[in-house]
Amino acid sequence: MTNLENIDWAHLPFGYMKTDYNVRCTFKDGKWGEIEVTQDETITLHMAASCLHYGQEIFEGLKAFRGQDGKIRLFRPDENAKRLQNSALGIKMQPLPEDIFLEMCKKVVKLNERFIPPYGSGSSLYLRPLEIGISPRVGVSPADEYTVIIFVTPVGPYFKEGFQCTKVAVYREYDRAAPCGTGRWKVGGNYAAGMGATARAKEAGFSAALFLDPKEKKYLDECGPANFFIVKGNTYITPKSGSILPAEADEAAECGTAAVTAPISEVVDMDKDVHYVIRKDGSVGPKVTALYNRLRAIQMGDYPDEHGWVVFVD
Ligand code: COI
Repeated sequence: MTNLENIDWAHLPFGYMKTDYNVRCTFKDGKWGEIEVTQDETITLHMAASCLHYGQEIFEGLKAFRGQDGKIRLFRPDENAKRLQNSALGIKMQPLPEDIFLEMCKKVVKLNERFIPPYGSGSSLYLRPLEIGISPRVGVSPADEYTVIIFVTPVGPYFKEGFQCTKVAVYREYDRAAPCGTGRWKVGGNYAAGMGATARAKEAGFSAALFLDPKEKKYLDECGPANFFIVKGNTYITPKSGSILPAEADEAAECGTAAVTAPISEVVDMDKDVHYVIRKDGSVGPKVTALYNRLRAIQMGDYPDEHGWVVFVD
């Protein structure tokens, strides 16, 4: 059993720590089975499983927080349930019903309650749901059996810099996902596709690679393991809204479950040697700071949950 006595909750990395239990549910004979609880960290898999050969693997990421009031809050798990279903349908996997997903999340958090970082530590319990095709396949076709696993691990900030500005790099020779490909679904392979650019960016001292749209190489797309946004005046702009140039920004940041809100001071176009300096003095801007604080406050229960984003685990 993991001994929690010497854990420095305020300085956790974003990494794996063994916890007590994980939960699993398998789709077999045309239906989802019972939720299973196990202490086993490994899975026994057929060597020809479709997830291993043809990438039938999707995942999610969400967090549980301990509030000052002692309550445990999950942040928008229903949205993760829907996105997991959408990803599943995208690559011909079985979608897990939302109620089973929610029950699994609650169960795995409750069973590992002692791993939820204390209020005020700045850390949280990260839930990692994944779904894999487990039927043996040699010809390229979808499996007919699937397993969903949810494990948890306590985590600190994704970027070691925490809530401080970092620089990101653009390289045109890498695409993360094709326009009509799997980029719109949370498929493990999308992240493998980004590893080359990310490794290069990190070697050059950047925190992440900022991908351009693969079609025209003109628009901004995802940033490393997160989304990218800029703030211009009072407007929050994401890549979905069309062409955005970092040069137009007052502030910029990466955002996501893992990254929370990670401010960016500079985007460097490595091919053209153009530096888009967003925060000259490297300070975090006021809007990104406000956004980060508000988001954290809602997650911890320090600010009213006006949008119904919080689900309690009791
Ligand atoms: C998340 O925010 O959960 C992500 O998708 C990032 C993850 C790949 C670390």
